[in-house]
Amino acid sequence: MKRKVIGLSGSYNKSSYTFNLVSKISSEVERMYGLKKTLYDMSDLGTSLGQAMCSEQLDDTIHEVIDDIINAKVLVIGVPTYKASYPGMFKHFFDLLEPEALSGKPIILSATGGSNRHALMLEYQLRPLFNFFKAITMPTAIYAVNSDYKNYLLCESNLLDRISLATKELSPWLIRQ
Ligand SMILES: Cc1cc2nc3c(=O)[nH]c(=O)nc-3n(C[C@H](O)[C@H](O)[C@H](O)COP(=O)(O)O)c2cc1C
Repeated sequence: MKRKVIGLSGSYNKSSYTFNLVSKISSEVERMYGLKKTLYDMSDLGTSLGQAMCSEQLDDTIHEVIDDIINAKVLVIGVPTYKASYPGMFKHFFDLLEPEALSGKPIILSATGGSNRHALMLEYQLRPLFNFFKAITMPTAIYAVNSDYKNYLLCESNLLDRISLATKELSPWLIRQ
């Protein structure tokens, strides 16, 4: 089975700043380490998520995504900032995973927002969630504001440098056996 980098965007939007950021980072990981890239957004999780109180109530569509996430060599997580944090439905998805599901998983964290004022949500909201799961989050996280894009394509060179840096930080966990 080909080793995969899985990108998950916490947005439902079809034209999405977050999805494009996750895609950009995942492509860099694919390029640097030869992993196969697969991308998901919230709509790929299907309609059972909102009403499920436990993972047994989720349908097959979302179980396939969960399997991909659990078996990924690397995860790239991106969320849109909602009220200075990640969206509630994104958290609900992770509430339904087993506490050990992401143990030891290398993860690049990213987020988008309307303003730079909430950039630290990456450190005070998103990183602690994955610390709970005992995942290994890369020290460099990426926060992009909407004005960093042209037609939803990231064009701010400082952010492209940060993507490259975060990707290089994965190397100790990707030594080929
Ligand atoms: C309900 C809601 C709440 C938001 N709250 C914030 C916020 O607190 N801080 C911020 O910087 N941007 C906020 N935004 C703006 C989004 O984070 C921003 O536009 C993001 O890039 C949208 O990502 P998407 O295009 O992937 O959906 C909010 C947007 C929505 C719809």
